[in-house]
Amino acid sequence: MSKVTVVGAGNVGATCANVLAVNEVANEVCLIDIKEGLAEGKAMDIMQTAQLMGFDTVVKGVTNDYSQTAGSDVVVITSGIPRKPGMTREELIGVNAGIVKNVANSILTYSPDAILIIVSNPMDTMAYLALHALGLPRNRVIGMGGALDSSRFKYFMSQALGCNANDVEGFVIGGHGDTTMIPMTRYATYKGRPIAELLSAEQIEQVAKSTMVGGATLTGLLGTSAWMAPGAATSFLVESIIKDQKKMIPCSAALEGEYGYNNIMVGVPCIIGKNGIEKIVELDLNAEEKAKFDASVAAVTKTTSVLHEMNVI
Ligand code: NAI
Ligand code: 2OP
Repeated sequence: MSKVTVVGAGNVGATCANVLAVNEVANEVCLIDIKEGLAEGKAMDIMQTAQLMGFDTVVKGVTNDYSQTAGSDVVVITSGIPRKPGMTREELIGVNAGIVKNVANSILTYSPDAILIIVSNPMDTMAYLALHALGLPRNRVIGMGGALDSSRFKYFMSQALGCNANDVEGFVIGGHGDTTMIPMTRYATYKGRPIAELLSAEQIEQVAKSTMVGGATLTGLLGTSAWMAPGAATSFLVESIIKDQKKMIPCSAALEGEYGYNNIMVGVPCIIGKNGIEKIVELDLNAEEKAKFDASVAAVTKTTSVLHEMNVI
C-alpha cells in the first residue's frame, strides 16, 4: 500500500492529486488545505471521475487535520501563494517561508519517514528551508522545478523542430528562476541527433530563452502561475519514488561538494528512487556552462540568505 499526501489543494496541488490518481501512482492520495472544504471538494470532484477514467486510487480531502496524513510515503508541499503577472518567484519568499516551515513540521509529526517534495516558490529556497528546519538527510528533501523546466524545454524544442515532443531529449539545470535556469542545449537531441545539427544557433538560443521565461509567459496569459504541467511534473517525480523507477530527473538537491558547492539547494540531474535522491549525477560542464551554473548558484544563494536575515532558520 502506498500513500501520498499533497499539501495545498489549489491549482498545482489539485492537479497533481488528479494526475497521481489517473495514473494510479499510489493507492491513496490525501489532499490537505487550510481553506475550509476546499480539499474535500477537490477530492470529491476527482473521485467522481474514477469510474470515467478507470482508476482505483482513493483520493481523500481534509481541512488542516494532519492526523489524516499519517503514514505517507511521499509528501508534496504546494501550499503558499503563487506569482501574479510581473512578479518573480523570489518575491514570494516572505509569505511562503512561514507556511512551508509550519506545514513541513506538521507533516513530519505524522509521517516521520516521508520523502518531501517542495513545490512552493521560490522553490530552491523553500526546499533549503525544509531541509534545514527539519534536519533531514538530504536524500529526503527534493525540490521540484527541473522536471517542469525540462518538459517546457522539450516542448519548445519540438515546436522549433516541428516534431513530436516525445522524440526529443533535453534537460534543464540550475535554479528554478527566469534568469537562473540553464537549458542544457549541448545535450539536447532529436532521436539521438544533437539539435545543433538540425537548428541554427539563433533558433537554439530562442528555444532556451522561451524555456527560461516559460513560467512568466504563462503567468502573463493566465493571471496566475501555471498548474497543468507543474502538477504533472510533480506526479512524474512522485512516481519515480513510489515505483522505485530510478529515473534521472533534474531536481533541486542539497550539494555536498558536487559541482564544487556546499550548503545550497539547486537543480542538478538526480537519480530518483524509493529513497528519494539516490545519486547526484555530476556532468562535465564546459566553460560556458560552468560560468552559467556559478552565476545561478550565486543568485540562488542570495535568495536563500534571506531566510537567515528573516531568522526563519
Ligand atoms: P494556489 O493559490 O492555487 O494554491 C495554494 C493553496 O495553498 C491554496 O489552496 C491555499 O489555501 C493553500 N494554503 C495556503 N496556506 C496553507 C497552509 N498553511 N496549509 C495548507 N494549505 C495552505 O497556488 P498554486 O498555483 O497551486 O501554486 C502553489 C505554489 O506552487 C506557489 O508558491 C507557486 O509559486 C508554486 N509553483 C511552483 C512551481 C515549481 O515548478 N516549483 C510551478 C508552479 C507553481
Ligand atoms: C512556474 O514555473 C511559477 O514556478 C512556476 O510555472
